[in-house]
Amino acid sequence: MNYRPQFHFFAQQHWINDPNGLVYVSGVYHLFYQCNPFGTKWGNMSWGHATSRDLIHWQEKPIALPQRNLGDRIESIFSGSCVLDEHNVTGLGGAGQVPLLAFYTSHYSEAPKGMGRQAQSLAYSLDEGATWHFYGDQPLLSLSPENDEGFNADEFRDPKVFFHQPSGYWIMVLVLAVDRKVVFYRSRNLLDWSMTSTFSDPGDNPQDLWEVPDLVEIGIAGTDEHRWVLLLSVNTSGLHKAAGSTQHYFIGDFDGTHFQFHATQTPPIRDAKHPGFNRLDWGRDYYAAVSFHNSPGNDPVVMAWMNNWLYANEVPHDGFRGQMALARRLTLQRDKNGRVGLRSTPVLPEVQHTANRIFDGKPGNGDIIKRPIESPIQRLTLISKGYLQGQIVLTLGYGVQSLVLTLDADQGSACLDRQALCSDNTPAAFLASDSAQGLELEDASVLVVLDHSSVEVFSTDGSWTITQQIFPLQPLDSLTLEYRGDSVPQVVLEIG
Ligand code: FRU
Repeated sequence: MNYRPQFHFFAQQHWINDPNGLVYVSGVYHLFYQCNPFGTKWGNMSWGHATSRDLIHWQEKPIALPQRNLGDRIESIFSGSCVLDEHNVTGLGGAGQVPLLAFYTSHYSEAPKGMGRQAQSLAYSLDEGATWHFYGDQPLLSLSPENDEGFNADEFRDPKVFFHQPSGYWIMVLVLAVDRKVVFYRSRNLLDWSMTSTFSDPGDNPQDLWEVPDLVEIGIAGTDEHRWVLLLSVNTSGLHKAAGSTQHYFIGDFDGTHFQFHATQTPPIRDAKHPGFNRLDWGRDYYAAVSFHNSPGNDPVVMAWMNNWLYANEVPHDGFRGQMALARRLTLQRDKNGRVGLRSTPVLPEVQHTANRIFDGKPGNGDIIKRPIESPIQRLTLISKGYLQGQIVLTLGYGVQSLVLTLDADQGSACLDRQALCSDNTPAAFLASDSAQGLELEDASVLVVLDHSSVEVFSTDGSWTITQQIFPLQPLDSLTLEYRGDSVPQVVLEIG
């Protein structure tokens, strides 16, 4: 079975994890990413590089920032971000050159004197990302192990840099991973950084790790208001270990120094395990989402790693391991109760033909509709109207193996279950079903995007998504739709 994605990014021969340094320069999207240039498991962390004009077709480039031997220690290149230094405030550009800066976390094999094992460093390119130079051997920003705040200086990482227009400062957002804090710094010249504040959540789990933050400004559709949305990846452990790596967000305000979380404004699409947190995606395989710097349009475009630290090193590898979810545009909408919620809309591959309507009718209680399908199908749309109670169950499978999506109006939930789609060597933690909770499903429409080894489910209003990897042993060749309930909804199913 071929697991190589058709329209999701993966590195042909390597391990990959987080997207890094997402940036749009002269009509080209650049995707840097955590990569092991020598293997298909995590290690030798370096920044790989790929480019695209449409966020779908990617071209792999040479490794941009390789792990380095600094003589007395090895420096691994952990996650970070890119910005264009258009006014050359760093002074790194020559006449007419716009430096492209990459802020990354140096992860040292041994802590340098007076610093923790993780610190923030700079590399730059003067040819729009084709070739790179390290900015010396010293980081720009580190913490002393004996810092006054008692922060863990060894777990200080994932810088995301952006320009904050109202204050005129560059902002760097980072995490103190085991202290479970997001930290904000600011700078005028992109080289000297000072801390302004930290953000933490009282509802969090002391055993979790906080990773890969981003802070994006988004306009509320149809108004001239905006909010700041803090994206945060959480690696759960202890009690919540089963979920592994999960992607969250907080909606609030940012004044250039402090982030203020608006707990009451966010719709109640909450993660029961993390009461204060909203889920950006409810699936097991959506992590480390960050936005493109300088991308066209007003709304941020994010990409995420489609995997989970629980089993990322164990999934079938077929010469490559790890892939990115489709790029998604984030918007804010105010709902009928006046609350502001985040919406995700995927950037989809173009289709050549019109969609094939395979069902249009009113299934009654217990009706089962079966259709053969030709794999790989890329898109499946399910539209249901007047669906007031009961469950709509959509099953994609072959033989006894199946992937099941259940929309449950009674529970207000959508569940994607891949447990019956596994091989003998599937890692135990992979056998999972993921549920989005707190949904209103009366008129439920979903778009299911399938690739050779992934499924992404989007509610058509973008208010919830569920992303999972799948490794079927054979192509999926049948579709079943079942309705259990008494409301006789109008259902349309389309492929393509
Ligand atoms: C998140 C992460 C980051 C770190 C990188 C290392 O998946 O753990 O916090 O910088 O991966 O590869």
